[in-house]
Amino acid sequence: MNALLLAGGLGTRLRPLTEHLPKPMALVANRPWLEHLVIHLKNQGIRDFVMAVKHYPEHIRNYFGDGSKWGVSIRYAVEQTLRGTAGAIKNAESYLDDRFIVVNADIVHEVHLLPLLEYHLQHGGEVTIGLTEVDDPTQYGVVEQDRLDRILRFVEKPRLEEAPSRRINAGIYVMEKKALRYIPEDREVSIERETFPLLIREQVGVYGQVISGYWMDMGTKERYRKIHWDLLNRTCRLPIPGRENGSGIWLGDDCEIGPGALLVPPVLIGNNVKIGERSIIGPFAVIGDDCEIGRHVRCSETIMWDRCKINDAIHLNNCIFGYGLELGSRQILHEAVMNRMGAMQA
Ligand code: GDD
Ligand code: MG
Repeated sequence: MNALLLAGGLGTRLRPLTEHLPKPMALVANRPWLEHLVIHLKNQGIRDFVMAVKHYPEHIRNYFGDGSKWGVSIRYAVEQTLRGTAGAIKNAESYLDDRFIVVNADIVHEVHLLPLLEYHLQHGGEVTIGLTEVDDPTQYGVVEQDRLDRILRFVEKPRLEEAPSRRINAGIYVMEKKALRYIPEDREVSIERETFPLLIREQVGVYGQVISGYWMDMGTKERYRKIHWDLLNRTCRLPIPGRENGSGIWLGDDCEIGPGALLVPPVLIGNNVKIGERSIIGPFAVIGDDCEIGRHVRCSETIMWDRCKINDAIHLNNCIFGYGLELGSRQILHEAVMNRMGAMQA
């Protein structure tokens, strides 16, 4: 059984971070999320991956290659035109096993596949949708189920008063390949708006099971930050790179921490990071590989990707910086989201 990772979305709500990057390649705790995802699924026995890619496919291909570095096989189904979530699955059809899993590659989760698979085999239908419960379902696909957990209705992004429940599509499916006969080949098709409602009407057996463990869609800046704080305070138990000795300080290799500098937990420092004297980093800071931080810097609730350069006496709170951002001296920044081009949004 192989896994199809849907990695072709635009990531508009994470701009400017994802300006020239497929959203699942956004760093989460200093690694592309897609890498965490491949490792997480590999640890559960998946060895064969297909990545459905559209925007900047070369980023993903250059990073992962054939997957051998991770001990898995990765193939790529590239979309030339906009295909939508179901179109992307149809486009990958020739690579898929008779039974396969589909994962929205922008979901940060610790989902265990085995219960979902057992349930899928037990009900014998063509689709099982992993579900989770949220307070506000209006940004998600919402389901109504019967007493046997069969899905009776699937409504994508309903208004609150029209949402049939708080149970939402977690973006993880087990599917039988024969279900793909319902997806047309020649146009954009949304699995949420078109295919799931059709499969339900056709009564092919669409069931839902609530998954356990951490789950969060990284698609907005607020949630992207929250994922990091949840990782640092270990609400989310996914592995964090670097050494930690119970102190809440994760430290990479070859770092230089200047005299009088302070790391306030929880904090994650990547490899080869320099921190100048008397700077205070944390609480809640994630510093990417090869970053250089000057003297007397204060940095809390902030995420910076690899190769950022922060000059002396800068104060940062609640910021997110993309790869290689450079900041001149003596600035105070609060809630800035910037990439190297300097684009900035609150
Ligand atoms: N290859 C490919 N091609 N991938 C796509 C395409 C496409 O045309 N469109 C979207 N994707 C990928 C995105 O990269 C993302 O990983 C996933 O499909 C879902 O797309 P989003 O754009 O992130 O959708 P959403 O977050 O608004 O809603 C989806 O996820 C929710 C869970 O977070 C839906 O599946 C909802 O029903 C669900 O509740
Ligand atoms: Mg999403």
